[in-house]
Amino acid sequence: MSLESLRYSRGNLLVLNQLLLPHITEYEAVTGVRGGAEAIREMKVRGAPAIAIVGVLSLAVELTSDPPREVSELLTFVRESLDRLTSARPTAVNMKKAADELSEFLAREAELPGATPQGLTESVVRWAELLLKKDVQDNHEIGDLGARHILQGAASGGAGVTVLTHCNTGSLATAGYGTALGVVRSLHALGRLSHVFCTETRPYNQGSRLTAYELVHEDIPATLITDSMAAVTMRERRVTAVVVGADRVVANGDTANKVGTYQLAVSAKYHGIPFYVAAPSTSCDLSLPNGDSIVIEERPSHELTDVNGVRLAAPGIGVWNPAFDVTPHELITGGIITELGIFRPEELRDGLTRGE
Ligand code: MRU
Repeated sequence: MSLESLRYSRGNLLVLNQLLLPHITEYEAVTGVRGGAEAIREMKVRGAPAIAIVGVLSLAVELTSDPPREVSELLTFVRESLDRLTSARPTAVNMKKAADELSEFLAREAELPGATPQGLTESVVRWAELLLKKDVQDNHEIGDLGARHILQGAASGGAGVTVLTHCNTGSLATAGYGTALGVVRSLHALGRLSHVFCTETRPYNQGSRLTAYELVHEDIPATLITDSMAAVTMRERRVTAVVVGADRVVANGDTANKVGTYQLAVSAKYHGIPFYVAAPSTSCDLSLPNGDSIVIEERPSHELTDVNGVRLAAPGIGVWNPAFDVTPHELITGGIITELGIFRPEELRDGLTRGE
């Protein structure tokens, strides 16, 4: 069975404390919005889709255990809760999009004749549960579409392909299966993955702590490299494709993802290796025209200077620790893999809005 970032049943939410991985597997109960926002801010749960899902499910469990008695009370509670959850981490757009969509949905439902606090509470809880279910379905779609596209592009006959990936985009970063790591999983399931290289992903080490853990758990042939080994790996280990996730893909295809993604895209272009972003449509933000206006979260300096509480860096040195960078769309040469299709950056807007 794959690793699970969370366990949910109506009224109960358990979140895997990813700060303790890979050594300790401990699920913590999240009983409401305060705990949900804290788990997101402290990065016990991380990864753009998982952040949104834990956020809305924390709201669902609090509403289930303590249902509001008046419609107005419910509306205020939901609004304040979504504001709190959205501000926990600013770069990943999934939580903000979920908050906007849930608010619009609730406003429409509350306008219907005969709306009751009980009925509206049930609607919000169901909405949150659907988001959980849909994320897993979307990830399978992304994995299968991406795997087929890479195999077609590689024209490798029946031979396997080699993928390089960054950060963690697997079961732990989503409701299950994963995005970029979902593509790796699908290639593996097809028997067409020769090897995957995962970067350590300094400074937070999502690659060595989480992706490596998932790959070992799934028995997928994999090798860990430091971020600084990516270019030489591309050149000497015949990397077929680079596949990464996203925290926010904006209208022109510029993509914010874990810091280090940009330099991978530059290196991939130099080596003529297709560079893919794999992300559900919930990570796409068509309201921003380009990557210049994406807010990039800056993390505390100790995450860079210290490892497990032991300081490695010279005392007194200044530190800049942006958690994400923006890859310009022209470097996304393979395409943007979503559950709705694979798009070149310039096709993204039309591709996402086609069926609306
Ligand atoms: O800071 P994190 O660990 O939340 O950053 C995660 C990433 O950048 C992931 O690559 C991204 O959210 C995609 S997860 C499917």
